[in-house]
Amino acid sequence: MHAKAPAAWGKLLKMGNKEAPQETWEAIETASRGELAALQLERLRRSLAHACRNVAPVRRKFERAGAHPDDLKSLPDLAKFPFTTKQDLREAYPFGLFAVPREKIVRLHASSGTTGKPTVVGYTQADLDMWANVMARSIFAAGGRPGDLLHNTYGYGLFTGGLGFHYGAERLGCSVIPMSGGQTEKQVQLITDFQPKIICCTPSYLLTLADGFAEQGIDPATTSLKLALAGGEPCTREMRAAIEARLNLDVVECYGLSEIIGPGVAMECLETKDGLTIWEDHFYPEIIDPATGEVLPDGEFGELVITSLTKEALPMIRYRTRDLTRLLPGTARTMRRLDKLAGRSDDMLIIRGVNVFPSQIEELILKSPALAPHYVIEVTRPQHLDEIEVQVEMQAEAAGEDVRRQAAAELQHQIKSYIGISARVRVVPTASIERSVGKARRVVDKRSK
Ligand code: DLL
Repeated sequence: MHAKAPAAWGKLLKMGNKEAPQETWEAIETASRGELAALQLERLRRSLAHACRNVAPVRRKFERAGAHPDDLKSLPDLAKFPFTTKQDLREAYPFGLFAVPREKIVRLHASSGTTGKPTVVGYTQADLDMWANVMARSIFAAGGRPGDLLHNTYGYGLFTGGLGFHYGAERLGCSVIPMSGGQTEKQVQLITDFQPKIICCTPSYLLTLADGFAEQGIDPATTSLKLALAGGEPCTREMRAAIEARLNLDVVECYGLSEIIGPGVAMECLETKDGLTIWEDHFYPEIIDPATGEVLPDGEFGELVITSLTKEALPMIRYRTRDLTRLLPGTARTMRRLDKLAGRSDDMLIIRGVNVFPSQIEELILKSPALAPHYVIEVTRPQHLDEIEVQVEMQAEAAGEDVRRQAAAELQHQIKSYIGISARVRVVPTASIERSVGKARRVVDKRSK
C-alpha cells in the first residue's frame, strides 16, 4: 500500500506524485477501496454542488427530480440524481452547460456528431492540468516511461485525441513527435528515421500503417515500435491479436470521450492487459440498464454512466455514454476495470429483430485465415426488411476464385450459426476497402431514416 493520507488528496494533484513508487505514476492508483470511496464521496458532493450552483439547466433538472446535492450521504445516493445526455449538450450548444465564465475557459474541443451540430466541450487551466496528469498516468500504466520517444498519430485540432496524448506524454517526460493523422507515407518515413518506441493510434489506423510499411518494402514486424496506445474505437480481442502479430508490439487500450475529458478516462495496464482501469478518483462510473435507467451491480453488462469528480468548466453529472461494458474488480490497480467495450448502443444493428454488433462480425472475420481484417458492413432496407452485406478483403497471400468463394460461404455460415442472422458476404480483392485514417467507419447504413 503506497497511499498518502486521505487529507492530502483534497486538492488536485498537480504533478505526478514523486513519493509514488516507480510502478505507478501516482500513489492514489493503489489506495485502498475504503480510502478511495472516502475521496470519491467528498469530491462527488463538491462536483454536484458546483454543477447545481453554476449551471442553470442542471439546477432545473435537479429541481424537477426533487434532488439536492445535500441529499448525497453515500455513493449509492447518486442514483437519485438525473442523467445528462448528448441531447442536453445539443440543447445547450455551444456553451450553455459551462459552469465558469467563458473567459475562464482556456481551450475548446468539439466532437462531430453524425447529425447536426458538434458537441462542444471546454476546459479551464485546472482541467487541462488534471487531463495532462491522467494522461501521463495512463501512458505510464501502459508501459511508457520518461525519456521514451512517442509518435502521436491522433488528430490534432478539435478532436481530443491529439492534444490529449500530446500534453500527457510531455507531462510524463516523453519526447513527442506531434505527427497527427493521415499522410501514411510520411508517418512510415518518420517512424523509420526517428525510431520511436511508442505509437499513439486508433487500432484501425495501425492496420493502415502496417500496410504502409509493407508497401515501402519494410516488414511491419521489424520497426522500432514496441508499444501502441490504441483507442477511440472498439477493437475485438481477435483484432488486437492480429495487429500485435503483424506489427510485433503490445497493443494497450485507452478509453475516453470528449464529454468527460477526452482520452485518459480509463487505460489498460501493460502488466495485465485485462480490461481498462478507470481512474476512479476523477471519473465515477456506474453501469445502468439502458432501458430502465436502473443501476446494475458490478459484473453485469449495461451502459456506462460517468460523473466527473474534479472538473471545473464542464462538470458532468451521470453522463450516459451509450458505451456498453461492465465493471470488474481491480487487478493491477485497486481501481475498478471496464471490460472490453462491446460497442455503443447506437451502433447496434437490429436485423429482423436480432441485435447485432459490428464487433461480433469482426470476431468471426478474424477467425478465418483467408480473410484480412479490412471490412465494412452495409445495411439496406430494399422493401420492409433490413438486409446486411458484409464486404471483406481476402488476405494478400490467399488467391484463387475457389478460395474466395469458400471463404465467403464459410463466413456466411458462421454468421448464421453464431449470430443468428442471414447476411450476404462478398469477399473483395485486397486493398479495395477504404482505409482508416483515424476512426474506422465499419457500418454504412443505407436505410432511409
Ligand atoms: O475518441 C477520445 C479518445 C481518443 C479515446 C483517443 C482514446 C484514444 P470522442 O471522439 O468523443 O473521444 O469519442 C468517444 O469513442 O464514447 C466510445 O464509443 C469510443 N471509444 C473511445 N475509446 C474506445 C475504446 C475519443 N478503447 C467515443 N474502445 C466513446 C471502444 C472507444 N470504444
